[in-house]
Amino acid sequence: MARSGKVSVIGAGFYGSTTALRLAEYDIFETVVLTDVIEGKPEGIALDINQSRWVEGYETKMVGQTTGPNGDGYEAIAGSEIVVITAGLPRKPGMSRMDLIETNAKIMRQVAENVAKYAPDCVVINVANPLDEMTALAQIVTGFPHHRVIGQAGMLDTARFTHFVAEKLDVPVASVTTLTLGSHGDTMVPVASACVVDGKPLGDILSQDEITELVERTRNGGAEIVGLLKTGSAYYAPSAAAARMARAVHEDSGAVMPVCAWVDGEYGLSGAYLGVEAEIGKEGIKKVLETPLTEAERALLGEAYEAVKAKQADVKDL
Ligand code: LAC
Repeated sequence: MARSGKVSVIGAGFYGSTTALRLAEYDIFETVVLTDVIEGKPEGIALDINQSRWVEGYETKMVGQTTGPNGDGYEAIAGSEIVVITAGLPRKPGMSRMDLIETNAKIMRQVAENVAKYAPDCVVINVANPLDEMTALAQIVTGFPHHRVIGQAGMLDTARFTHFVAEKLDVPVASVTTLTLGSHGDTMVPVASACVVDGKPLGDILSQDEITELVERTRNGGAEIVGLLKTGSAYYAPSAAAARMARAVHEDSGAVMPVCAWVDGEYGLSGAYLGVEAEIGKEGIKKVLETPLTEAERALLGEAYEAVKAKQADVKDL
């Protein structure tokens, strides 16, 4: 496929810069723009990444741009087809994602206003935490249709669950299919009934206690890494997940991925951002799918919906 288009990544921390690097290395975009409020940081990272092009053999160019408090610098994102928002603080050890809500809401407001102004036709992929709430706020502030504002969490949580199952059984990750829905938080719903290893249901291979242990580790997957790193949170698996979503938008692939999307009647749930499976394409969400669930899983998804809906009702005032 020929290179085309522009994708922008807001925030040049580890999550943002690794996402930008992955997007550049795909070699499918003309330009990747990386912005940050720290003077010189995005320019420096872009220069460094551009200098890796000859070694790695790709041509996509990266543009780094510092942005100011009044939105100066945001012109660099003009015409982006996709904007990945990573701006916001990460957790410190002992913090929940929800502890970040007030600080990150202020940052999100500023960013989303400028995204709407300079890239009014883009698809927004939010990764800032608390994920479901910040995605809802990005939609409110941009005023974009819901299908053009999505959040990254399900791909990451599913990737973690898959890794833990593969490690436990000592099989290649390619043999394992798992799925997580719900929220990127306490009400994450690992869908054990959709998990298979080499075509066999997970429930036939592991005991219920073993599955519960892997589910718990998945639910705490982000906190486990925050605890080890002590400063900052995970970014290699998160950036892989966000970049794949952006690629599916760019290629209009229709790939089915677990993402944070607006539900409008699916599963009988409406009016909130929730982790569901959806087809991804150039308009963002092409279609939210209703994954077959057991009754217990459906009940958990309902609980996740109630929890995120209540919190999302508050974000407009932050
Ligand atoms: C995590 C953060 C990025 O789960 O939400 O690692």
